[in-house]
Amino acid sequence: MLDWDTLEAQCLACQKCALADTRTHVVFGTGSRSAEVMFIGEGPGENEDLQGEPFVGRGGQLLDDMLEIIDLDRKTNIYIANIVKCRPPQNRDPLNTEQDACIGYLRNQVALIRPKIIVCLGRIAAARIIKEDFKITKEHGQWFERSGVHMMAMFHPAAILRDPRRRPEAFQDLKSLQAKIREVCTHTY
Ligand code: URA
Ligand code: SF4
Repeated sequence: MLDWDTLEAQCLACQKCALADTRTHVVFGTGSRSAEVMFIGEGPGENEDLQGEPFVGRGGQLLDDMLEIIDLDRKTNIYIANIVKCRPPQNRDPLNTEQDACIGYLRNQVALIRPKIIVCLGRIAAARIIKEDFKITKEHGQWFERSGVHMMAMFHPAAILRDPRRRPEAFQDLKSLQAKIREVCTHTY
């Protein structure tokens, strides 16, 4: 396991997959390195690639608004990262080969943070982190536990923007996350 500075330096210089050729910025991750709650997305989009920050733009604003409902804040009490750190062209899904090349950075981030709770944003992250055949429509909001880490998936903010009828369920999932934080976290609230 690498320390934060070494890990970040390696990641920012990474050429392990072809996404390196088309990226503007590597999006390493953001937030508190002593967070008890980690959010994991699939990969940078256009705005994230341009700014080097996860979840900026319209989807990012919605995520921030959702976080605020349960007193979470991307800078102070959570950490946000992605499965792949460079933008897939045209925002296509990251290929399995790209995910395989990149996942070590995320695993190292998880090993350094040792979160109590991992929240996957969308199906791609859930399929990689929780289980391969994850069905987001059916299984969002359900809790899974793996070696003492509590995990769930919520709808991706972009999916909520595409279909606002998902908002009530997203709200339920947030309240469930809030309850889980109260149950298992000691310094998030
Ligand atoms: N979508 C993601 O999954 N991650 C980001 O950082 C931005 C959009
Ligand atoms: Fe390296 Fe990951 Fe970027 Fe591929 S996506 S170049 S593995 S940092």
